[in-house]
Amino acid sequence: MFILCKRLFPALFLFLWFTVSHAQGGYELWLNYRKTENPETLEHYRTHLLSVVMDENSETVDAIREELSTGLGLMLDSTVSFISEIPEKNSLVIRKTENLPSGLRNTLKKDIATIENDGFLIRASGNTVIITARKDVGLLYGTFRLLHHLQQGLPLRNLRILDIPKTDIRVLNHWDNLDRTVERGYAGASIWKWHRLPGYIDPRYKDYARANASVGINGTVLTNVNASALVLTPAYIEKVAALAEVFRPYGIKVYLTARFSAPMEIGGLQTADPLDPGVRQWWRDKVDEIYKTIPDFGGFLVKANSEGQPGPQNYGRSHVDGANMMAEAMAPHGGIVMWRAFVYSEHDTTDRAKQAYNEFVPLDGKFMENVLVQVKNGAIDFQPREPFHPMFGAMPHTPLMMEFQMTQEYLGFSTHLVFLPKLYEEVLQSDTYRHGKGSLVARVVDGTLDNKKISGMAGVANIGSDINWTGHPFAQANWYGFGRLAWDPYLSASQIADEWLRLTFTNDNNFIKPVKNIMLESHETVVDYMTPLGLHHIMDTGHHYGPGPWVGNLSRPEWNPVYYHKADTAGIGFDRTPSGSNATAQYAGEVAATFNNVKTCPEKFLLWFHHLPWDYKLQSGNTLWDGLGIRYQEGVNRVREAQKTWAVMEPYVNKQQFEEVRMLLGIQHEEAQWWRDACMLYFQTFSKQPFPEEMETPLHSLEYYRSLKFPYAPGISPQWH
Ligand code: GCU
Repeated sequence: MFILCKRLFPALFLFLWFTVSHAQGGYELWLNYRKTENPETLEHYRTHLLSVVMDENSETVDAIREELSTGLGLMLDSTVSFISEIPEKNSLVIRKTENLPSGLRNTLKKDIATIENDGFLIRASGNTVIITARKDVGLLYGTFRLLHHLQQGLPLRNLRILDIPKTDIRVLNHWDNLDRTVERGYAGASIWKWHRLPGYIDPRYKDYARANASVGINGTVLTNVNASALVLTPAYIEKVAALAEVFRPYGIKVYLTARFSAPMEIGGLQTADPLDPGVRQWWRDKVDEIYKTIPDFGGFLVKANSEGQPGPQNYGRSHVDGANMMAEAMAPHGGIVMWRAFVYSEHDTTDRAKQAYNEFVPLDGKFMENVLVQVKNGAIDFQPREPFHPMFGAMPHTPLMMEFQMTQEYLGFSTHLVFLPKLYEEVLQSDTYRHGKGSLVARVVDGTLDNKKISGMAGVANIGSDINWTGHPFAQANWYGFGRLAWDPYLSASQIADEWLRLTFTNDNNFIKPVKNIMLESHETVVDYMTPLGLHHIMDTGHHYGPGPWVGNLSRPEWNPVYYHKADTAGIGFDRTPSGSNATAQYAGEVAATFNNVKTCPEKFLLWFHHLPWDYKLQSGNTLWDGLGIRYQEGVNRVREAQKTWAVMEPYVNKQQFEEVRMLLGIQHEEAQWWRDACMLYFQTFSKQPFPEEMETPLHSLEYYRSLKFPYAPGISPQWH
């Protein structure tokens, strides 16, 4: 016995250590099921939910059963029993609409009639709580929503949640390379252990699928848009199939990035010309081969003729020729092609912000039905703040997918606390005016503005192998929030922050209120200390870490920060009105007029659209120069406030997460000061004016800031020496 204890003890200790350190470290994400605190609520839940009627059979139903056993088990601190007949007493019934008893079906018939696609209904009726849906995956989504409802301590009485996803394709884009580096990844190595697949299935894969399904994400592009053709070889297809198998019960399809030159690189062809019959046949065969191994494969995401990637233009062909070639191969299998519109050329001297529109809008209506054009939220590149991309609303005959970035390439990496649903909300709520007032970007994305047959949203993942998946504990909220908005682009950032905090930490309002406030202000804060008043792309070069407004020596003009801020002794800003690049003409008349007029242009976009003198008067009455300095300072001040608020949050979170956030806010504060000082000192060389009195004296000289170099900043390919 003693020997047994001695042997078992280390194992038990290790197990406990692993469980506790994982929970402490945030591995569980927002699925960190905690016992219901309020005793009355606990009793109420126990009475209604401990008997679960589930008699359907599928892998998805098994996943539901498992999630309920864990989730309800932990939240109700009891064992859940699964039964197949609806009892007299209280129960939770989970059945597809067609399998509900006729009485119930009749009671719920109005709601049932409106459930479509992956949607679900949760209803409390008599002594039952019912989750019903047309498909198994709808039951899964409903289950997660009920668990989220319970974790927030909300009542079951009169419960009625009828929710149908507003978009079809809700995908993560992993910019993960086959060597497990992650382009613009700040949370460790790629979670895909290619070398060990297909034989070894990391438990993370299932937890990843659970997390995604819990917010309605239904697809994942496993590989980087700067693609390697190797992933299309048989050995890798087998690995991809192993991942697809883990994700399938959770309603998640796998997609791959397709390198346009793959027929040459792995197919031995002499060309990748999309009009060449041999090339077309190669893609058809390749796609057939993939579907043979992965029958529910989702399709391809393609970056072509963008930043040096190969594409149809290499052969004098158009994006339509390229996309339709792949779409044709996909069509018999029900697959799609997501063709990216992130294009700009060093040979094109027009304003970079205009180039994607110029290239794609004339192609409207020419893509096959299973092609979606994937457009970044703004016309430059995931800047801290950009006006919405003018392509939204400008291609009425082509489904446009939104591409948001969760990984914080230009937003302080995963070191800075930035709640991105605020940025997403601002874009989605922007009015394109394409069909008059109310033509919101959200309506382009969900396809309702022009009655699209297919719609979608993509998010560049911020996920890596860090224990907490995303590096910053609060960056998890960006993954959560992306999923919620992909499902329903009309949700408010405030609701999302509220939900996430309650699910992840606690329902205590002494925590929720102040911390939610930090989250909701955080986007404006980072914009203020990095790129206030419409400034953009003034980050240091390559890695995009920290300020580099002085950089002007790169070979491609549009890679230089000086191209974007255009500071000179007369003033600062990029004139995109008719007197400048006239990029505003790409928007609907009402929008263009608002942006063109310096008096109506929202100040948050002022220097995006106008080059203005340093003593231009802002709405506050301050000159542009003073206003700029005040904004930079306000950004710094708000990080300080966040630090103060967080300092008293120790009682509500675990020690490890408390410390992590405290330390990260400390770095964020230093970096906010760095941004303020470096940018203002540099711009001062043009304005030649003293700093406004509200602004603190810079901590170092401009020379010092210019001398900083970060050859090993994360997110870019390592140089092997
Ligand atoms: C940015 C980013 C690149 C990325 C590119 C893209 O330019 O810096 O790393 O490949 O966007 O979206 O294709």
